[in-house]
Amino acid sequence: MEKLRIAIQKSGRLSEKSLELLKEAGISLNNGSRKLRSVAQTFPLEVIYLRDDDIPQYVEDGVAHIGIVGENEYAEKECAVDLVERLGYSRCRLSIAVPKSEGYRTLGDLAGKRIATSYPVILKKYLAEKGITADVHVLSGSVELAPSIGVAEAIFDIVSSGSTLISNGLKEVETVMKSEAVVIANQNLGDAEKRLLTDLLFRIRSVLAAANNKYILLNAPNDHLQQIIEVLPGMKSPTIMPLAEPGWSSVHSVLSEKTFWEVIDRLRELGAQGILVIPIEKMIV
Ligand code: PRP
Ligand code: ZN
Repeated sequence: MEKLRIAIQKSGRLSEKSLELLKEAGISLNNGSRKLRSVAQTFPLEVIYLRDDDIPQYVEDGVAHIGIVGENEYAEKECAVDLVERLGYSRCRLSIAVPKSEGYRTLGDLAGKRIATSYPVILKKYLAEKGITADVHVLSGSVELAPSIGVAEAIFDIVSSGSTLISNGLKEVETVMKSEAVVIANQNLGDAEKRLLTDLLFRIRSVLAAANNKYILLNAPNDHLQQIIEVLPGMKSPTIMPLAEPGWSSVHSVLSEKTFWEVIDRLRELGAQGILVIPIEKMIV
């Protein structure tokens, strides 16, 4: 029996969420990420746990068929793999930061200076694009310490909450790229693996769509029913049922998280009452 082999970060910013996503997709694993590999019970999937930095190469080589990795690692490693899905979690940005006390004005201020980073490929590309020559100093960790110990004048690193920068007396001065968790895939998958990947992505998309949408029920006065329907996008068109009370209807639909509050405000203006909003468990798209 064919199995799809997926590489997931062993520990760190992506690992917990990735395991949770698989679980919500109905794929239960017999153990946590303590082991180096585990086999799913309910889907032909084998998970191997790796350092995020290594995942793109393992997927290119076909040791893993697919992987979940930060877009930053995908961009840095420049491996021959396909980005097949964006997952929307572990969002962060890759930014240049300098000591808070520096009077930074433009990127030109960094010409000829040393910039410490674990992402030399992305940084060098950016500097080349902007026509700036600087000394890219590669460190594998604790990059944020570089300015205070005199190794560099600036750093280029992941920023998420920004608290690492603050606690090291640094300020973000240029955002170079945004990143989120993504699924990458080997470029030479066999038919069986391709089929399994399609099945897995279908499940993952259903979980992501559910997380981004809410089910909404409300009572609408019939004289504003048409306007209320126009405000609600829904998957197709909303379900409408008459209420026992004359002149009122019950309306059911699906609302996107993105426009949620705008839509709610508009519905209230139009006289909607008894608005109920319910989380969606899975959404088959
Ligand atoms: C990153 C980065 C910073 C920190 C920023 O490290 O190197 O140290 O996160 O996050 P913050 O803005 O929320 O403080 P990470 O924990 O991802 O480890 P890694 O660099 O070793 O992969
Ligand atoms: Zn890392």
